[in-house]
Amino acid sequence: MADSAWSQIEAYIAEIEGTSCNDKESLEQFRIRFLGSKNVLKSLFGEIKNVENERKKEFGQKLNELKSLAETKFSTTQSELKKVDRAGAKQDMDMSLPAQPYPKGSRHPISIVMNRIIDIFEKIGFVVSEEREIEDDWHNFTAMNTPEDHPARDMQDTFYLKDSVTNLLRTHTSSVQSRVMTSTEPPIRIIAPGRVYRNETISARSHCQFHQVEGLFIDKNVSFADMKQTLLYFAREMYGPDTKIRLRPSYFPFTEPSAEMDVYWGLKDEIDYRITKGTGWLEILGCGMVDPNVLKNCNIDPEIYSGFAFGMGIERQAMLKYNISDIRLLFENDVRFLKQFSTVI
Ligand code: DAH
Repeated sequence: MADSAWSQIEAYIAEIEGTSCNDKESLEQFRIRFLGSKNVLKSLFGEIKNVENERKKEFGQKLNELKSLAETKFSTTQSELKKVDRAGAKQDMDMSLPAQPYPKGSRHPISIVMNRIIDIFEKIGFVVSEEREIEDDWHNFTAMNTPEDHPARDMQDTFYLKDSVTNLLRTHTSSVQSRVMTSTEPPIRIIAPGRVYRNETISARSHCQFHQVEGLFIDKNVSFADMKQTLLYFAREMYGPDTKIRLRPSYFPFTEPSAEMDVYWGLKDEIDYRITKGTGWLEILGCGMVDPNVLKNCNIDPEIYSGFAFGMGIERQAMLKYNISDIRLLFENDVRFLKQFSTVI
C-alpha cells in the first residue's frame, strides 16, 4: 500500500506539472481536485501511518511539496488569467466614444451677484469683512443708535435666541459696522456681505432670511460728495456706464443725513412699470453719513473723523438680473433651478 502511495505522489506531481488551465472553469476543476475540501491529496495524508517509521518524515515532506506545488500552480495560473482578462477588457474599449459628461457645479445666483458687488468695491480699495450672524442687541441695535422703542426692535421683526434677551440673529449687516469700528482704528474702508434674518411671513416677495452687502468708509474729512461719487461708480459698474442715479432723503437711525439711492431702470415695458411702480426708478440701497452718535458709541471721535455707510439687499438684484419671480426659489436648493445659472465655478 505504502509503495503505491509513493508512486501516486509522483503521478500527481507529473499531473500538476503537466496541467495547463486556459480558462476559469478548468482552473476551478484543478482547484477542486487538488485543493478543495475533498481533494485527492487527503487520502495520501491518511497513508502516513502505513509508511515504515524511518521513511515517515521523508513521506511527509514529499506530500507537503506536492501540496505546495498544487497551491503555486493554482495561484500563478489565477493571476495569469486575470492579466489576460484585463488585456481583453482594454481591447474591448472604444477610444472613439465621447467621454462621460462631467457634471460641472454652478454658482448660486446670490453668490454671483454678491461676488460681482465685492469685485466692484475691492477695485477701489474696500476690503471684505465677515462677521457673526448671531449677534447681541448692542452691536445690532444700541451701538447703531437704534433707540429701545424703535419698531425694528420689536419681537415681530427680530428673532431672539431662545431664553435670551440679548442674543439675536442679526437683522442687518449694519451690525458689522459696530463690530469693526469698536475693534479697528480709522481709516476704515470695508464691505460686509452676509446673511440676515427677520421674522417675516414667507411669500413670493419676502423671506425670513436674505442677504445684504454693507459698506463703511471712515476717515478724516469724508463728505457726502465722496459717498455720492462712490455710489455712482458702483451703479455704473453694476448696471452699465450710462446708469443714472438719484438720492432721495430718507431716515435711518444710524445715519444723518440719510438717503435711499435709486437707479434709473426705464419704462420700456409693462414689467418695468410694475417693478418701478410707474416711476422708472428702482430703489437699490440705503445710505448716509454715519451718525456722530454711532461713532461715539464705538469710541471714534466724531470731531476728528466722519464717514459714510450704505447697505443693500442682494435678493432683489439677483431676481431682477435673472428674471426670478419667487424669492423662495433662492432658498430651496432645487438643483433643476440652480443649474441654470451658467457662471461655472
Ligand atoms: N441696515 C439698513 C437695512 O437693513 C440698510 C442701511 C441703510 C445700511 C443705511 C446702511 C445705511 O449702512 O447707511 O434696511
